[in-house]
Amino acid sequence: KEVKLWGGRFEENVTDAVERFTESISFDKQLYKQDILGSRAHASMLAHQGLMSDSDRDSILQGLDEIGRQIEAGEFVWRTDREDVHMNIEAALTDLIGEPAKKLHTARSRNDQVLTDFRLWCRDAIDAILSRIKNLQVALLTLAEQNAGLIVPGYTHLQRAQPVLLQHLLLAYVEQLERDAGRLLDCRVRQNFCPLGACALAGTGLPIDRFMTSNALGFTAPMRNSIDAVSDRDFVLELLSANSIIAIHLSRIGEEWVLWASEEFGFLTPSDAVSTGSSIMPQKKNPDPMELVRGKSARVVGDLVSLLVLCKGLPHAYNRDLQEDKEPVFDSVKTIMGMLEVSAEFAQNITFNQERILKALPAGHLDATTLADYLVKKGIPFRTSHDIVGRSVAFCVAKNCQLQDLSLDELRSINPVFDKDVYEFLGVENAIHKFCSYGSTGAECVASQLDYWIAKLDINRD
Ligand code: ARG
Repeated sequence: KEVKLWGGRFEENVTDAVERFTESISFDKQLYKQDILGSRAHASMLAHQGLMSDSDRDSILQGLDEIGRQIEAGEFVWRTDREDVHMNIEAALTDLIGEPAKKLHTARSRNDQVLTDFRLWCRDAIDAILSRIKNLQVALLTLAEQNAGLIVPGYTHLQRAQPVLLQHLLLAYVEQLERDAGRLLDCRVRQNFCPLGACALAGTGLPIDRFMTSNALGFTAPMRNSIDAVSDRDFVLELLSANSIIAIHLSRIGEEWVLWASEEFGFLTPSDAVSTGSSIMPQKKNPDPMELVRGKSARVVGDLVSLLVLCKGLPHAYNRDLQEDKEPVFDSVKTIMGMLEVSAEFAQNITFNQERILKALPAGHLDATTLADYLVKKGIPFRTSHDIVGRSVAFCVAKNCQLQDLSLDELRSINPVFDKDVYEFLGVENAIHKFCSYGSTGAECVASQLDYWIAKLDINRD
């Protein structure tokens, strides 16, 4: 058996069970690119500071290039007995170039090394998630443009509430996603500081230049406090919180679309390309992708909770528990990217069923609140108008009709203030035209929202 890189004080090797239990190579090999980048920057800095010769640096850089090539070509052998990505690469480098490799870990610990890798990885992950958020926003915006003028029932408590433009609802999703992107951008700013050179926890007595490595790796600055640098995991807690909120947003859209695709609603039909069938019921066409978007939000939230619980109660500085931080982060990022991608594809593959929606609109007294506003315009205090309209609705319920079906005499029997101009306020089509407040579902307000997003998302058009 090979002697461990840290084997100096040990007389016995670890047992196989301990080796299997403590390894992280099975998942942290994902960090190989970042690990190589970090080592390159570190070696260059060490040479610049006179801590290694230029020729040692050059053979390290060449050796790291070769290892990177082997990994990408699938030729590299990852060894569990070399524990993690850092020691796999360092030991392979020693196999490859000999003595100079032994200088690479000068003024560095795996504690600052792993965090450098991890922060670089998360930075790329954030950028990848951001571009998928934008794709989904564009898909939703396109859907909104394709469905101009379509009115749908708006719901509260899942009961018919007031009419809204479908565009208005779709743009509500776009707004939520914009805040999601904002949260990621925020956490990217706080995250982009460099732990390298914090070493195990206390820094080093060797004359390193942390600003040089930080710069080379594209960080804003080195982290100010070496204990903080190797202890902090709030950069991933923030990322996983932001992911969880995205997941919850997507899950709500998923729930809405699944519901709307049901026979009972029938408001939308997904194309075959985004539907799946049943192994027993030949007629079935299910909206599985959005059900799974809803379902997978559970694991994204679970990943956050795992990480929160992991960090709770850990004394400063590094503890091996922290090795458990990788898998939830990898899982959360992979899952959220899939959820965003599939939601965008689903959006590109649904048709809203105008006919079914139009048929649904008259029921549910969606114009009742507009009628109350009509009475306010006649000088009636709102509480009183609420009551008058409430009694009008009760009248309709008893008669099994809609507000617009009531005759002027019937309305006047409820309250004499009603006049014949009331019919300009009744019926869904009329009611929706009355909305005019900023941010409302009125046609002009929605049109200006649409313009805003078209400009903001930079949609190319002829
Ligand atoms: N694989 C470890 C992790 O992910 C790397 C740091 C190990 N440091 C140590 N002193 N054992 O946290």
